[in-house]
Amino acid sequence: MKRILITGSNSGLGLEFTRQFLERGDYVIASCRRPGAAVQLQELRDKHSGRIIVPELDVSSEEERGKLYKQMTSFMDKLDILINNAGVRFGGEKFSDSLENIQKEDFSNIFQINTVAPLMMAVRFLPMLKKAENPIIVNISSVSGSIARKRRKGSGYSYSSSKAALNMITKALSVELDNSGVIVVSLHPGWVKTSMEYTEKAPLMPDESISGMISVIESLKIEDTGKFYDWQGNEVPW
Ligand SMILES: NC(=O)c1ccc[n+]([C@@H]2O[C@H](COP(=O)([O-])OP(=O)(O)OC[C@H]3O[C@@H](n4cnc5c(N)ncnc54)[C@H](OP(=O)(O)O)[C@@H]3O)[C@@H](O)[C@H]2O)c1
Repeated sequence: MKRILITGSNSGLGLEFTRQFLERGDYVIASCRRPGAAVQLQELRDKHSGRIIVPELDVSSEEERGKLYKQMTSFMDKLDILINNAGVRFGGEKFSDSLENIQKEDFSNIFQINTVAPLMMAVRFLPMLKKAENPIIVNISSVSGSIARKRRKGSGYSYSSSKAALNMITKALSVELDNSGVIVVSLHPGWVKTSMEYTEKAPLMPDESISGMISVIESLKIEDTGKFYDWQGNEVPW
């Protein structure tokens, strides 16, 4: 039974990660911003009682990250997998795809959530991860963050640059943690229908993307640290 901490577990990919890990018999710390409003997580808690907790966590809050760490260390010492899943498509209320509409404020919020928070989560939970046997940090990135694959106009300056920077966090952490046994990867989930903007026409459903990503996570070896894969296990160019 693996102990898995997931951020943004109340919807889309985070919820499906939670559901599938629970079905597999794992223990899930299904964090989200508003546990009281997370009806589907509450249903999962009723169904799998004893193997899931639903703590409050806004990933951008240092105080809440610290509170969760304290809560978890009060009853468990090791963490096997950290999944930095929480993310936002737009940093502000404005549509930032055209140059004329770009607002510098959009970048501050989106970078805090998509880029800085995953790093701070890794730093905070590292002591627990280092105690596990084959610990893994998974940063849910996007092919939009691949500089090598950038072809189309638009697709969001703030979003794609926040994910490109997240990829650098993955690589930098993997170098930093070399010889520690901790594996760090970026994963692209595919284009998946969730509540995120611009996924209405996506061809993939969360169950398919998540079962693919879980297979990739399960097959990871230490040689894979610092790499970027898609949900089918293909390496994505940086
Ligand atoms: N769907 C796709 O096609 C696709 C493709 C590539 C990458 N991704 C990535 O996949 C991840 C999950 O996205 P999704 O498609 O499942 O979208 P989603 O359904 O909109 O889920 C996003 C999740 O992130 C949470 N979140 C946002 N800000 C947060 C914060 N400050 N603290 C904690 N949680 C926060 C949201 O919580 P609230 O409900 O409280 O807002 C929600 O649970 C994201 O990182 C996204 O960039 C998705």
